[in-house]
Amino acid sequence: MKIIIINGPNLNLLGKRETTIYGDASFEDYFKSLQKKYANVELVYYQSNIEGELIDKLHEVGFDFDGIILNAAAYTHTSVGIGDAIKAIETPVVEVHISNVYNREEFRHHSYVSPNANGILVGFGLKGYDLALQSFL
Ligand code: DQA
Repeated sequence: MKIIIINGPNLNLLGKRETTIYGDASFEDYFKSLQKKYANVELVYYQSNIEGELIDKLHEVGFDFDGIILNAAAYTHTSVGIGDAIKAIETPVVEVHISNVYNREEFRHHSYVSPNANGILVGFGLKGYDLALQSFL
């Protein structure tokens, strides 16, 4: 089974960025623990701060991988292009947000990803990625 985690802008700074909201663990360390826990899964991690690169990655994996775990970060709320890319591909997408976007600013309540996602995990911290992974197994 091939699963990719795709993280959008500023998530490369996890562990350093707004730690009261996003926690103090780096994603690289968390990803290593997931790889250990799910040793039988081919788990890939990709992060980009660039909208077009995220779309290219969705196209690249979207007809081949078994699952995509996507935290499009700020592009969730703005990117028609990412929403369309999810519509265009075949691989199921589970949307993850570390924070509970629904108890934050109003502009975070809208998602271009959600209408095309198979499921959504919001507000469980990094554990949301693990839960998303379990949903594919
Ligand atoms: C986020 C929530 C978004 O609103 C924000 O722009 C992010 C991270 C989250 O994981 O909680 O960068 O996607």
